[in-house]
Amino acid sequence: MEDDTTSNTSNNRSFEEVLEAHISRRAVLVGGLAGAALTFVGPSMARAHVGSGGRITTGTSGLLSARKKPKIGFTSIPLQAGTMPTIAPEYDYSVLIPWREKLDGSGESFPYAGFTSAQQAESIGIGHDGMWFSGNNDRGVICINHEYGTFPHLNGKKVPASIEDVLLSQHAHGVSVVAVSKTRSGKWKVVKSDLNRRIHANTPVKFSGPAAKSALLANTAGNPMLGTINNCANGYTPWGTYLTCEENFNGYFGSTSTAWSANSIHTRYGFSAAGFGYEWHKFDPRFDLANPAYSNEANRFGWVVEIDPKKPNSAPVKRTALGRFKHEGACVTVGKNNQVVVYMGDDERFDYIYKFVSKGDWKKMIAAGKSPLDEGTLYVARFNEDGTGDWLELSPQNSALSSWTIEDILVYTRLAADAVGATKMDRPEWITVGANGELYCTLTNNSQRGTAGRAGTNSANPQAGNAWGHIIRWKDTDKHVGQSFSWNIYALATEITDAGGQMFGSPDGIWADPDGRIFVQTDGDQPGKNNDQMLVASAVGKEFKRLFTGVKGCEVTGVTVTPDRKTMFVNLQHPGDGSPAVTNFPEPYTGATGAVPRDCTIVITRKNGGVIGS
Ligand code: FEO
Ligand code: CA
Ligand code: CA
Repeated sequence: MEDDTTSNTSNNRSFEEVLEAHISRRAVLVGGLAGAALTFVGPSMARAHVGSGGRITTGTSGLLSARKKPKIGFTSIPLQAGTMPTIAPEYDYSVLIPWREKLDGSGESFPYAGFTSAQQAESIGIGHDGMWFSGNNDRGVICINHEYGTFPHLNGKKVPASIEDVLLSQHAHGVSVVAVSKTRSGKWKVVKSDLNRRIHANTPVKFSGPAAKSALLANTAGNPMLGTINNCANGYTPWGTYLTCEENFNGYFGSTSTAWSANSIHTRYGFSAAGFGYEWHKFDPRFDLANPAYSNEANRFGWVVEIDPKKPNSAPVKRTALGRFKHEGACVTVGKNNQVVVYMGDDERFDYIYKFVSKGDWKKMIAAGKSPLDEGTLYVARFNEDGTGDWLELSPQNSALSSWTIEDILVYTRLAADAVGATKMDRPEWITVGANGELYCTLTNNSQRGTAGRAGTNSANPQAGNAWGHIIRWKDTDKHVGQSFSWNIYALATEITDAGGQMFGSPDGIWADPDGRIFVQTDGDQPGKNNDQMLVASAVGKEFKRLFTGVKGCEVTGVTVTPDRKTMFVNLQHPGDGSPAVTNFPEPYTGATGAVPRDCTIVITRKNGGVIGS
C-alpha cells in the first residue's frame, strides 16, 4: 500500500537532480544528450548503450563481475486482468493461510458474518505482506506480516462504530507465526503447534537499543509499550529471528480536536487529523494525536521489530538503533569481520535509503548477551553523479548532527537524514542482496517528480513523472561495512518489454536467488490496467519473464522459499481491494453476492519438481 502524502520538503539534492547532472556529464563523454545512456557505473567502468532511434537504455553489467546467466526456462505468460490468478504452464499454485483461518491446525476458518475481534486475535490476519519460511523442505514455520486492511473489507463498514470494530482492525494487523507442513498430496497446511501465535496492535512489546529509554517514547499516561502496525516488508537474521517493518504507521493516528494541528515533526512523518480514515482515535486514546497523555505514542511506531519464532512467549523487540521512518523492509547480510549489515528503504516520495552496521562480529555479540541490532552505526545514502555513493553517518559524530543527541537522531531519523544531505529517491521499497553481493532496491514510482515545487525533471531525464518506477543497484566497498559504494540502474520499467509491450510497472517486492535470478513483484498500475504480477529476471542481461499474475485489485508481495527452492511462497494482498464485486478469490468468481475476497499465501511449485524460476 502507499501513503499518498509527500513530506520531504528539505533542500537536499534529489536523485533526479543527481541523475540529471550525471547524464549531462556523461553526455559530454559520449557525444550528445540523445546518446547519453543511463549507465551508472564506476568511472573506470563507464560505457554507454544507445538503442535504435537514440532510445535510452540502462546499464546491465557495469557493477557485476562476469557471471553465467541463470536458467529461466519457463514460458512467460501474458499480462492478465482476470478474477483468478494465472501461472506459467510449467508451474502449479495452491492457496495457504487465507485471512480468518484458525491457528489451531483444524483447517477451519472463522466465518465472515459476525467475525469478532477475539476471533481475529486467534486467526490469520489480513494484508499478507513480507514473510519468511524457516524449516526443511517439507515442514517449517512461516512468519508473515499483516500490513493493511480497510473496514469495508474487514466488516463491511466504512468507519468503526465501536471499540469492538477498532479492536477487530487492530487484531487484523501485525504478524502471524504459524507452523506449516506439506501433506502427502503435496499441498501445504497449517499444523497445530505451540509456536503458532498472533502479534497485533495490542501485543506487549519491548524497546531496545540507544533510544529505548528516551523520554521521547514516554507518555504521561504511563501506558505499557504495545503493538506493531502496518507491517510491510521484512528481514531475517543469521541467528534465526524475524524482522517485521512498520511502514505507514502515521495513518492510524488522528484527531477530532479542532485545536490540534501538526507541528513540523508531525508533518515530516505524515501525521494529519484525518489519518487514513481508520479512525482508531475515536475509540482508543492511544491513537488520538490531541490527547496530551499519549503525546509520544506516535513515536512508538515506525521501527524494525524483531520476533523470535522459536520462543512463542517472547515479546517482540523494537530495535531503535535502526532508526524510525516508514520502514519498508530490512535486508540483512553479513559483512566484513562478521559484522551484520541491514539495508532499509523509507517508502515515501523523495525519501531515503539507509543501512545499519553492527559494532562487532554478530556471533561474538550474541555470545556476550548483546543484540547485534542494538549497537552499531546507522547511515543514509547519498548517490553522487559520477556513479559513486557515500554512506553518511547518522550520529552526533557527524558535524551536521553535532547538536543532536543519538536519541533525537533515532526517533526523528528522517529529519537527521535531511540535515546530512541524503539523496531523495523515488519511493524506496524492498532491497535484496544479489548473488555477487550487489544490492537491488525497487524505486516503485514517483508521480510528483518534476511537478511544481518538487525536485526537477528535464530533457535529460526520461523518467518525468516517473509513473512506472525503476530498480537501482549498487555495490558497497569493504564487504558491506564501508562508507562508499558504486551504483547503476538495473532496469527502468519502461524499457522492459515483450511482444505485449511494456511488461510491468511499480516494482515493489524483490528477491535475488543464489543463481542470479531476480524475482520482481509489483504493487500498483500495470500496463493496460492489468493485474499485479511476479516476474523472474536475470541479474546479467535484460531477460525478464512473467511467472505469475494475481487477481484484479490485488498486490503481489512477499517471497520466501524452502531450502531446496522447490517451493516458493508469495502473497496476494487485498484481492479486489476487498470487494466481492471485483473478485471472490480464493473462491471462483460469482459476483457481488459471492464470497468476500481473502488475502492469502500462494504456494508455487514447478510441475517437474525443479527450482522455482528455472
Ligand atoms: Fe508497504 Fe511500500 O509498501
Ligand atoms: Ca511494499
Ligand atoms: Ca508499494
